[in-house]
Amino acid sequence: MNCQIKDLHQHIDQSVTLQGWLYNRRDSGKIAFLVLRDGTGMCQCVVSKSPETEGFFEQARRLGQESSIRVTGTVRANEKQIGGVEVDVTNLEVVGESHDYPITPKPHGIDFLFKHRHLHFRSRRQWHILRIRHTVIDEIRAYFNRNGFTLIDTPIFAPAAGEGAQTLFEVDYFGEPVYMAQTGQLYVETACMAFGKVYCFGPTFRAEKSKTRRHLTEFWMVEPEIAYAELDDVVALAEDFVGAIVQRVLRDHRDDLEFLGRDITSLEKITKPFDRMTHAEAADILRGDRAQALLQYDLKNKSARVEEIKKLLEEKEARSTAQGVKQWQKDKLAAEMADLREELADLEVEVENIPHHMELARNFDPGGDLGGSDETIISRLSDKPTFVTHYPRACKAFYMKRNDDDPTRVNNVDLLAPEGFGEIIGGSQREDDHDALLARIHEEELDPADYDWYLDLRKYGTVPHGGFGLGVERTVAWICGLKHIRETIPFPRMMGRFYP
Ligand code: 4AD
Ligand code: MG
Repeated sequence: MNCQIKDLHQHIDQSVTLQGWLYNRRDSGKIAFLVLRDGTGMCQCVVSKSPETEGFFEQARRLGQESSIRVTGTVRANEKQIGGVEVDVTNLEVVGESHDYPITPKPHGIDFLFKHRHLHFRSRRQWHILRIRHTVIDEIRAYFNRNGFTLIDTPIFAPAAGEGAQTLFEVDYFGEPVYMAQTGQLYVETACMAFGKVYCFGPTFRAEKSKTRRHLTEFWMVEPEIAYAELDDVVALAEDFVGAIVQRVLRDHRDDLEFLGRDITSLEKITKPFDRMTHAEAADILRGDRAQALLQYDLKNKSARVEEIKKLLEEKEARSTAQGVKQWQKDKLAAEMADLREELADLEVEVENIPHHMELARNFDPGGDLGGSDETIISRLSDKPTFVTHYPRACKAFYMKRNDDDPTRVNNVDLLAPEGFGEIIGGSQREDDHDALLARIHEEELDPADYDWYLDLRKYGTVPHGGFGLGVERTVAWICGLKHIRETIPFPRMMGRFYP
């Protein structure tokens, strides 16, 4: 009977057939231990030398990593093994051999791994992350579907900018320039006047010339939009929505989160209400002593860790070159040293940057946008996500509704994920007054002809409305606790990376 690894525990003492790939192998001459993965999980398959296994025992001992195999055997309960079971093999069939698989259990650099991304996500860590991504996307759809939102697919070829003109990718559209969509928002706004509550969900593109841990050039964004809504309604929706995503991942992926070393208690704190502050309040915090103290504290801790790692590396180096060290010990030390070197390289960059970030915070321009390091500071100050509202109008997109009490500000909101992860949501109430919007279009030196259709909404039954965009990859990075966004998408596209 064919069986998937995730269901093995329901077949104790029965004979099953598994179809998968060889993840790892070791043998003791008389027994070969094969770790098999089949996409649903991993399990240990044991091939003992006996007349029954004579036909394939030697082959099993020599199988290359990632060979595809079909294995039949009896399922045994074994608490010590992955998944609490193992399989006593009675038959083994090689479907496709694999020799010299490039990604071995030994350490590899990031560049090497991402050049082999088509194979890399067979690795365990990537498998855990992409399973969580799947569920985040599933919950995004489920949330809006169960709350009465209609899905509206918006175009990817767009005639004009939806966000800043600096990050447009231009494409030759039969001799005319068009742009890859930076957002579906302007289109989804039009649909919200037809359906009330709508969302679009698709890939979006930004020519981000920065190589940061937060930026992709192609990323997935979900954008709900609601009619008859003001800023507070947008904030309430974002809060409920993000809470639902985190709860769902906690419900379905505890094992995956644990494997990734994620601190689960910090995710359990993501309950309503989230924190809320205005941009002016954020500016005060950034310019004040609290931000400086936080960064001083980081500088001290990180510098101490740098010294600690350097010592550890020396020790391990000495141990691995000592006499009589076995090869497996050398391999283990080499893997540990590779991890430490990677951590060290990251930390050294961070330590070098902290004084600059202190300077940026101290001199934060109250009329400007929050930079990456500013977001990090604000989002470190609380266990909860923080909504930052009412940014200066000059640093935000043309479509945002100006604030009635303070016309220099707009009714917008960014949601900063805690623990330093920063912005995962950007949204706003939209300018619903025709003349005010037209004036903003002129101010931004955009061509009003490009936005005729968008202005029409403000001519034919305009209503207050608003929405937001949530970036899937930044959300997954936060939930999984990843330092870099590149692992959250199957094939990352970033400045300098578009292969394979
Ligand atoms: O803040 P942004 O630019 O907002 C918009 O595009 C609005 N039109 C959304 C709306 O109101 N309907 O982007 C929204 C989110 C960010 O908070 C972030 O999570 C993600 O999209 N994002 C990126 N993710 C990865 N790489 C990039 N280069 C990103 N740029 C934005
Ligand atoms: Mg934004």
